[in-house]
Amino acid sequence: MTIDPYDFRDINPGNRVLMGPGPSDVPPRILQAMTAPCIGHLDPYFLSVMDETQRLLRHLFQTQNELTIPVSGTGSAGMETCFVNLVEPGDEVVVCVNGVFGTRMSDIVNRLNGKLIRVDTKWGRAVEPDNVSDAIRGRNPKILAVVHAETSTGAHTPLEELSKIAHDAGALFLVDSVTSLGGMEVNVDNAGIDVIYSGTQKCLSCPPGLSPVSFSDKAVEVLQNRKNPVVSWYLDMNMVCSYWGEERKYHHTAPINMIYALREALRLVAEEGLDARFARHRLNHRALVAGLEAMGLSMLVPEGR
Ligand SMILES: Cc1ncc(COP(=O)(O)O)c(C=O)c1O
Repeated sequence: MTIDPYDFRDINPGNRVLMGPGPSDVPPRILQAMTAPCIGHLDPYFLSVMDETQRLLRHLFQTQNELTIPVSGTGSAGMETCFVNLVEPGDEVVVCVNGVFGTRMSDIVNRLNGKLIRVDTKWGRAVEPDNVSDAIRGRNPKILAVVHAETSTGAHTPLEELSKIAHDAGALFLVDSVTSLGGMEVNVDNAGIDVIYSGTQKCLSCPPGLSPVSFSDKAVEVLQNRKNPVVSWYLDMNMVCSYWGEERKYHHTAPINMIYALREALRLVAEEGLDARFARHRLNHRALVAGLEAMGLSMLVPEGR
């Protein structure tokens, strides 16, 4: 088969204002950072970029967790990373479902032969802690998982009570922060979150392609004491961390220019300040709601949850 390369034009999508939940508009500084020369994944300069990215990520997640890295892949890769590293066949896993992404978590638990305890809430509503307590009474779950901001409806579930329920039951508390990280308070250490993943393309205004994750020491201990090997070679945190940790041992080739982009996005977050950034998102949310209501529309999700 022959093709004429001149049939294909230069990429030029034109300008858009991205109004969906993600990807969101990418500031020029981030696009500029992506055009820096691609260097080797063990180049000392790149190793220093990795260290800085981890420091900036810990600031964003508000955590001291050593295991805080960007997984190569989009938010769903982060989701799989968290479950695949911690769930073994037969483990009881509670998943709170109030939309598409809780449903996706349940699918992953089933594929790993975990014993799924699914707590369903009406779509468009926050997860009710009492329903979760009822569902796990007398059980021995290893993980309690929830989506902080369920993108499919916009429902926000507060984390504090669910974190307590998880810990009282001896479970790890796992949070999806794909749509919340960078846009609203996600304080990993204060909220007692043991495992968390996110994505770059929403409130971080970075292109899609990386999934920031953080594992507490307790979660790392569970990972290190698994009975069976992690079923995914690519997402096995024991091996991935030998590259991100002191050993600097090759596992897979890091997506160099995406990590430049994330570092720049996180630098912008630090420059703006977390509180100012959350306030800006809140203000824009209020402006959107006011505009929609002025058009005679009403919000599906009640305010404040
Ligand atoms: C809450 C939530 N979790 C997970 C994902 C999956 O992320 P991705 O599409 O980047 O793989 C999304 C994507 O929209 C999301 O909104």
